[in-house]
Amino acid sequence: MTKEQETFYITTPIYYPSGKLHIGNTYSTLVADASARYQRLMGKDVYFLTGTDEHGQKIEQKAEELNMDPQAYVDEMAEIIKSLWKTLEISNDGFIRTTDDYHKKAVQVTFEKLLEQGDIYLGEYEGWYSVSDEEYFTETQLTEVYKDADGNVIGGIAPTGNEVELVKEESYFFKLSNYSDRLLDYYNSHDFIVPEFRKTEMINNFIKPGLEDLAVSRTSFSWGIQVPSNPKHVVYVWLDALMNYVTHLGYGTDDTTMLEKYWPANVQVIGKDISRFHTIYWPIFLMALGLPIPKTIYAHGWIVMKDGKMSKSKGNVIYPETLIDRYGLDATRFYLLREMSKGNDTVFTPEDFVNRVNFELANDLGNLLNRTIAMMNKYFDGNVPTDKAAFVANAVDAEYEATISEELAAYFQAMEDISFDISLDHAMKIVSRTNKYIDETEPWVLAKDEADKPKLASVMYHLAESLRVVAHILRPFLTNAPKEIFDQLGISQEIDHGLDSLVYGEFPVNATVIKKGVPIFPRLDVEEEIAYIKEQMTGGANSSENLTVDDENWDPSETELTFDETEAIEFDQFIQTELKVAEVIDVAPVKGSNKLLRFRLDAGDKGHRQILSGIAKSYPDYETLIGKKITIASNLKPRKMMGYLSQGMILSTETPDGLRLLFVDEASENGTFIG
Ligand code: MSP
Repeated sequence: MTKEQETFYITTPIYYPSGKLHIGNTYSTLVADASARYQRLMGKDVYFLTGTDEHGQKIEQKAEELNMDPQAYVDEMAEIIKSLWKTLEISNDGFIRTTDDYHKKAVQVTFEKLLEQGDIYLGEYEGWYSVSDEEYFTETQLTEVYKDADGNVIGGIAPTGNEVELVKEESYFFKLSNYSDRLLDYYNSHDFIVPEFRKTEMINNFIKPGLEDLAVSRTSFSWGIQVPSNPKHVVYVWLDALMNYVTHLGYGTDDTTMLEKYWPANVQVIGKDISRFHTIYWPIFLMALGLPIPKTIYAHGWIVMKDGKMSKSKGNVIYPETLIDRYGLDATRFYLLREMSKGNDTVFTPEDFVNRVNFELANDLGNLLNRTIAMMNKYFDGNVPTDKAAFVANAVDAEYEATISEELAAYFQAMEDISFDISLDHAMKIVSRTNKYIDETEPWVLAKDEADKPKLASVMYHLAESLRVVAHILRPFLTNAPKEIFDQLGISQEIDHGLDSLVYGEFPVNATVIKKGVPIFPRLDVEEEIAYIKEQMTGGANSSENLTVDDENWDPSETELTFDETEAIEFDQFIQTELKVAEVIDVAPVKGSNKLLRFRLDAGDKGHRQILSGIAKSYPDYETLIGKKITIASNLKPRKMMGYLSQGMILSTETPDGLRLLFVDEASENGTFIG
């Protein structure tokens, strides 16, 4: 009877296809990939899922901004994300798009089931919503609030740093509190959340204060999965998205073979920012559906920059392609997986990147391989000695072997714990210990005396064997170098062996190394490469640092621009704002506000538009504005102020006498674009 293969299901968060992914975004997928590769090499039957989270207000808005149909937009973006994973050689088995038909149907089945069971009920939601996070917040959670003249809160900033807007709409709610006790029991009886400090965070911040019912549908936009029994509602994007982990395996369809085989997931990799969704809402949804809860939610920290979060406006973004194109995929994957420590944030710096790659890959590993190949050719004609009976041990051999086995054991332990920085540390310790072993045994001295040949054979064997082992244990992380090392050592067949059968001291017999080693990682010029990466972070060749002024009559130092370039926006960001000429048809003060005037304007639209502007104090004679041509920003999202809808913004400038409107020539037609 053959032993049934153990299964291992691992997932990444599904990505919003709302922009180009930077190295931070790609980290979740890299961790999951290294894990999946490791588990496969350990003989498990692995299923690795990733995908895209394509519904919701954020995506709808993004498509609108680009004047695209949302489906056409996500179709394009999903392809871009898939091709990034190809570039990173991600070994995913499945890719789910939440616009896939099977997923949409299964989410509808789920929603109706929860409704029927009484977990979901219809009510009205009034509160704050961050479109960027697709997340609800209470007023007390906001880190900053905006108020109108009468002290009413009209907006604010969520703890994530993103703006919130007031949402008031009919909504279905999920009664999360019904499950709090079961959730706590589960937390206490399982190692569910890794690292553990996140568990405490969830309990103290959300569960102990009492779980509020969660709004699980929206009515104010339409880009989502419709609730079948009440089609004006679309399913809240997080309920839709979280379900991907099981719908992809067939939950809610006729064929649940995969679900039975792989669910519950062994590891679900996420970033720390989405812990609440994965460690509170997700297990509760699963409990309600009668499905088992995943074994581990692994929440990693963030890759940040010296000046905080990566953001285009700060000019500190680094994309994986930038590093891969110049330094190769292995160096890029190595750096990210080596540098990030479990659960904590890690600062990316060009200095660390260049130094890591240089010291550990080019120097330590690259040199070890080169020296080994060169000496093997010189002393043994390239043939790796494997007849252990003919070896004579060197004084350090026993201690050396013991160290290597300790490092190997520690490597495996860290791999099981998904502490990849530690695994890689142990792998690199084997490399540096082996370089030291060369210095200790001095093979060039042994080679001088024929009588020392058996000792020299032992040294050379250990070098080749340690390189074989290191190449194996690097396989979850590097996609090319291990194969290169096997090939150069003349043991290409090693690529077919797993890690589960890895034993130190089993270098294959009859192997001949290549005649001349080829460097697997070129040495980098530290200063040049640091400068290169920095330049890429601030926009590469288009960076303003590279611009020269070519005008003999103009000394640029006299008129030096003194604005904060980190705040500068791209040209295409600027042209996204529509500025237009508008004629004032009517204007009146807003009751209850001493700041706001309510304008009725003709901006070339079909009807008149209404804009509220905080200039009442500067224009006590506001009636004189009727008939004047002013300027507005016309494509801002309408927002509610003092109970009125404001459809844009009126442009004004500050003067010592207060705010003054920007008027344009009478001859300009209403609705003319400015720019
Ligand atoms: N669509 C949701 C996830 C739904 S899963 C059912 C989402 N998408 S995301 O595109 O915004 O983020 C994807 C992943 O990238 C998250 O795990 C997030 O934590 C991670 N990261 C985004 N920026 C990051 C860094 N700077 N560093 C590390 N990971 C970061 O959230």
